[in-house]
Amino acid sequence: MTTERAERLIESFKTKFDAMPDVLVRAPGRVNLIGEHTDYNDGFVFPVAIDRDIMVASRRREDLTVRLYSLDYDQSVEFALGDIKYDDDKKWSNYPRGVAHFLQESEYSISGLDAVITGNVPIGAGLSSSAAMEVAMAVAFERACGLNIDPVEMALLCQKAENNFVGVNCGIMDQFISRLGKKDHALLLDCRTLEYELVPLNLENIKIVVCNTGKKRGLVDSEYNKRRAECERGVKILEKFLPGISALRDIEIDDIRKYSSHIPEITEKRCLYVVKENIRVLESVSAIKEHDLLKFGELMNESHIGLRDEYEVSCPELDAMVEIAWGIDGVIGSRMTGAGFGGCTVSIVVEDCLQELIDKVNEEYPKRTGLQPEIYICTAEDGAGIIEI
Ligand code: GLA
Repeated sequence: MTTERAERLIESFKTKFDAMPDVLVRAPGRVNLIGEHTDYNDGFVFPVAIDRDIMVASRRREDLTVRLYSLDYDQSVEFALGDIKYDDDKKWSNYPRGVAHFLQESEYSISGLDAVITGNVPIGAGLSSSAAMEVAMAVAFERACGLNIDPVEMALLCQKAENNFVGVNCGIMDQFISRLGKKDHALLLDCRTLEYELVPLNLENIKIVVCNTGKKRGLVDSEYNKRRAECERGVKILEKFLPGISALRDIEIDDIRKYSSHIPEITEKRCLYVVKENIRVLESVSAIKEHDLLKFGELMNESHIGLRDEYEVSCPELDAMVEIAWGIDGVIGSRMTGAGFGGCTVSIVVEDCLQELIDKVNEEYPKRTGLQPEIYICTAEDGAGIIEI
């Protein structure tokens, strides 16, 4: 499939720009196995880069013009590196615009570029198509301009583009995994120090299954910001009693219980979730290392319950999808993944029971929700890189 898509991309580049591209880049989407809404609390996450990506064919220009063509939207844009503005109309172009803006702000000297972009990460499904687009464009500029950008720095730069140019207040997880993921591994990231560990998954007869609820994540931006604010509020209150703390990362469950009378109920629930989720991530990494997948699955299930009842970012569609999966013996664990309010669930499933899961989801999910599900069986892949042409 990759080869076919790459060939189509090259053909399209030749037609649009009357030349061969210099380089073909891919950057993957991601699915987070566990550690949700912890990244912006200086906590831990455990995502994998998946076999769905954004591909960019590009060629360096000698001037300062950037010309982009989106194969999927069939739209072109052109802008000058010295005058990068937000585009209200062709919103997809704001990711490359933001990346070009922040590369220059970080004093990388970049030249113009011609590029054609295509992707098969479903958009708005919580699998980080935006991070993949940012990282793919950053690598395209890096290659075209002979730069050598440290991968962690690149992830931070892409996050900046998303926060400050596109205007979405996300954490570091998505850009980080899209750049630094590794085939057959998940990545444990300490979002405070940005230290990370690639953990072999050794899944053998176990599959990572992503189920798309088909529910667009409507509320996600406003609710995401509200959750962030509640976490910050919790830290502000607890700081009075625990001087020196700066994030929920520094707090223990007992601290929250002890000072509970000073914390509004909702804030307390949110904080408890985050503190417990951080513990779950570390426990789940130990479980994987000990080949204790049953434990890993239990922790995934608990994570979903926390997201549903304490953090309250699930929705009836995500709950229905997870409940269907929980009802099948060969499903070891299942939870919502990503920001919530729609998008996807992730399950780990014994291969022999895969068909049963697919059949049950296709049969029961539409009945329960009126929506059509999509199922992707995913593999853990390398982070962004070059495709040889
Ligand atoms: C979105 C954000 C991430 C992270 C998740 C929730 O995907 O982009 O930074 O906060 O939500 O875990």
